[in-house]
Amino acid sequence: TSYWTIRTLDQESEQAIQQAAALWKEQELIAFPTETVYGLGADATKEGAVAKIFEAKGRPADNPLIVHVADVNQIADYVKQVPPIAQKLMDAFMPGPITLILRSNDKLARNVTAGLDTIGIRVPDHPIARELLRAANLPIAAPSANTSGKPSPTSAIHVYHDLYGKIAGIVDGGLTGVGVESTVVDCTGNIPVILRPGGITQEEIEKITGVLTIGSTMEKQVEKPKAPGMKYNHYEPDVPLWLVEGDEAFFQTEINRLSKEGLKVGVMASEELLAKLHVANPKSCGSLEDLTTIAVHLYDTLRSFKAEEIDIILSETFPKEGIGQAVMNRLEKAASATTKSSC
Ligand code: TXA
Ligand code: MG
Repeated sequence: TSYWTIRTLDQESEQAIQQAAALWKEQELIAFPTETVYGLGADATKEGAVAKIFEAKGRPADNPLIVHVADVNQIADYVKQVPPIAQKLMDAFMPGPITLILRSNDKLARNVTAGLDTIGIRVPDHPIARELLRAANLPIAAPSANTSGKPSPTSAIHVYHDLYGKIAGIVDGGLTGVGVESTVVDCTGNIPVILRPGGITQEEIEKITGVLTIGSTMEKQVEKPKAPGMKYNHYEPDVPLWLVEGDEAFFQTEINRLSKEGLKVGVMASEELLAKLHVANPKSCGSLEDLTTIAVHLYDTLRSFKAEEIDIILSETFPKEGIGQAVMNRLEKAASATTKSSC
């Protein structure tokens, strides 16, 4: 596995970009930074290249991949039409952390869309991602660059842990920005539907579209979700995670109760809540004053609890507004249980 570190785009980094892009053309896998999480990319026009993604991640074959392009005007090359509502979303949010589901024109490898007649496509807003996409001059299929089921990678170290030795290269561009994945919006029906909350909030999208529905796929346990990926286990840390719903007194009671049972308890919470708790293994994931800080640190904090040191993680729950909706969506999928105050 080649490893390139890029902090600024200059002549030196240009070499790394060219090498990585050349490997894409040879149907190899390259992990790269985007503004949301790291992606594991391959040439979306080649079935053999795309198959390697599913293998490296251990990803179920019926879970379609998002296609990444360098510029908004390239989207039209891969879809049957761009409906007016999709155009509005593109104008407002691309490049940026949003993925649109549109009707595919079948120009890409079939396994990219896992046999669906629709395609998820996005334009990442990250200078390194866009340079790589331009240099390759290819549409790049890329899921998050983690082992299937694990928290998504927000730093190259996370990618290294999960995929080193299994892929051709890693482009280390430092920490990603948003911290949670793109918002997936189905634009194939009469009204846009959010299939997965993410970096662009429901409130921001509604301002542009006027209408919007939240997909049934956002609930757990759907038989046939429209975003096929949503039915699998996701974002699971190495240690069991419980969500705690209640005030700080209840949180402290739960810490004490589990500690008495002989468990080593780790706590993931805002700095505001941590200041009020007594716990041996606290990890701050940001501030309640600004939920975007929680999104930024979420996956790294989840990954930072190690099974040798901790038996169980207790996590605070956050308001489901703005980016909090994406944060809670991921936490609910990552958690094995929720403990609630009875009063
Ligand atoms: O921010 C992101 O979106 C990151 C970066 C790397 O771009 N990518 C990412 O990909 O999160 P992945 O594969 O981890 O998640 C893609 C989600 C899955 O839930 C998948 O089921 C859904 O998008 N999806 C992809 N194509 C679809 C389609 N045609 N119809 C419905 N859902 C689709
Ligand atoms: Mg993923």
